[in-house]
Amino acid sequence: MFNGILIEKDEAGYRASYQSLSEEMLPAGDVTVAVEWSSLNYKDGLALTGASPVVRRFPLIPGIDFAGTVLESQHPDWHPGDKVVLNGWGVGETHSGGLAERARVRGDWLVALPERFQPRDAMAIGTAGYTAILCVMALEKHGITPGDGDILVTGANGGVGSVAITLLAKLGYRVVAATGRLHEADYLTSLGVAEVIDRAELAAPGRPLGKERWAGVIDTVGSHTLANACATTRYGGAVAACGLAGGMDFPSTVMPFILRGVTLYGIDSVMAPRPLRQQAWARLAEDLDLTRLHLLTREVPLSQVVTLGDAFLAGQGRGGILSIVRGSLLPQFPPHRPPRPGPPLQGISQLHGTSPLLPIVHDNGQQMRSNTQVQVSRTEGPKHLYMPHLPAARPPPSMQTTVTPHRQAPALDTRIRRNEALFAHDCEPLSCPLTDPR
Ligand SMILES: NC(=O)c1ccc[n+]([C@@H]2O[C@H](COP(=O)([O-])OP(=O)(O)OC[C@H]3O[C@@H](n4cnc5c(N)ncnc54)[C@H](OP(=O)(O)O)[C@@H]3O)[C@@H](O)[C@H]2O)c1
Repeated sequence: MFNGILIEKDEAGYRASYQSLSEEMLPAGDVTVAVEWSSLNYKDGLALTGASPVVRRFPLIPGIDFAGTVLESQHPDWHPGDKVVLNGWGVGETHSGGLAERARVRGDWLVALPERFQPRDAMAIGTAGYTAILCVMALEKHGITPGDGDILVTGANGGVGSVAITLLAKLGYRVVAATGRLHEADYLTSLGVAEVIDRAELAAPGRPLGKERWAGVIDTVGSHTLANACATTRYGGAVAACGLAGGMDFPSTVMPFILRGVTLYGIDSVMAPRPLRQQAWARLAEDLDLTRLHLLTREVPLSQVVTLGDAFLAGQGRGGILSIVRGSLLPQFPPHRPPRPGPPLQGISQLHGTSPLLPIVHDNGQQMRSNTQVQVSRTEGPKHLYMPHLPAARPPPSMQTTVTPHRQAPALDTRIRRNEALFAHDCEPLSCPLTDPR
């Protein structure tokens, strides 16, 4: 028996729970791994909450990546005691994954952990860091060198963006970061960014061709941002597109490609061939400053991961969350800051009014933090509303109560997206204080 998270879907509905699992629950595969750490990604949040149909086989252990030690192997490349890392391959979607103490996978999916790394390091890097190096390698393969000019990184404060900046700066590139959080400019500068621009500059529909600015681009945002990035890339330059944080559309024209010879590279981490992965992990071992990365990382025990599913989703736009199986990792992009006074609270006493929005901190002794935000208002008494993605204000002492979304989180999420109000009876109180993480 081993402990893990199981996603089930049957007459009783869609649910994720932490439980004791038997070896028979493990899928077919020629290598069994004692999982030590697993990073929590946005996709894992979708799987845990059922907010999107990420899981396509039931029951299934979620977790799209893991690092650990081989226990048993029928694969010629692997032997008990080998340290390994896995990203993607449909693990945590169609094949049971990393959010359990055991995983059974195909040996062809595994990569040997570089000697420089412990399993914890690999998951602090996570799928975000591994995707970032794939993007950097695509620009390098195109022949872009530091002398060629500026590299634009969009979604700069996110997991992929932060690691991409760190890597590019270390390699000597001049990096321009596009972000919606200009107040985090100091953080981006500390990562090695030379210039910070407002992501709004790139977010609106633009012209087919603009002023040539970038030798290369790493784009995690998609939509108009990607189209504008292509339109402002220099003659012969390249754009590595890996994300859709701003939208999955691509409202571009052929002009940058046929008049400026711009190349658009699609970056996929999930099905990337094994030799590319091996190269990517070797490059991470060579080029990534782990000290900085560990500052960005938080740990969460596996037993508490299920309760964080909604926080992963609410955390989109504030970086990913990592989980450790014998513990868990929460990366913070940017890093956690001690509380500082927020703007004065307004409207808290308004009857039937809408109060400012509050960030919520799960501080139950594990020093966990989510980016979930809570809206508090009063009708017949204090009510707690769960609303992510909205501006935050400091909670008053009278409202020092946390709420967490109810088990029916997917339904709640739909309502949140529709901007509908959620009241206290939709939520389950937590026995932990509400604090301002800013
Ligand atoms: N292709 C692959 O294999 C692969 C692998 C991993 C991730 N991804 C994708 O890559 C993207 C980034 O992943 P991540 O782990 O870095 O996510 P993340 O940590 O959530 O960061 C995404 C960043 O995008 C920016 N952003 C968020 N919403 C935006 C919007 N509406 N418009 C413009 N910018 C917005 C924010 O940066 P600022 O606050 O700095 O503006 C945010 O921090 C995601 O779409 C993810 O699904 C793809």
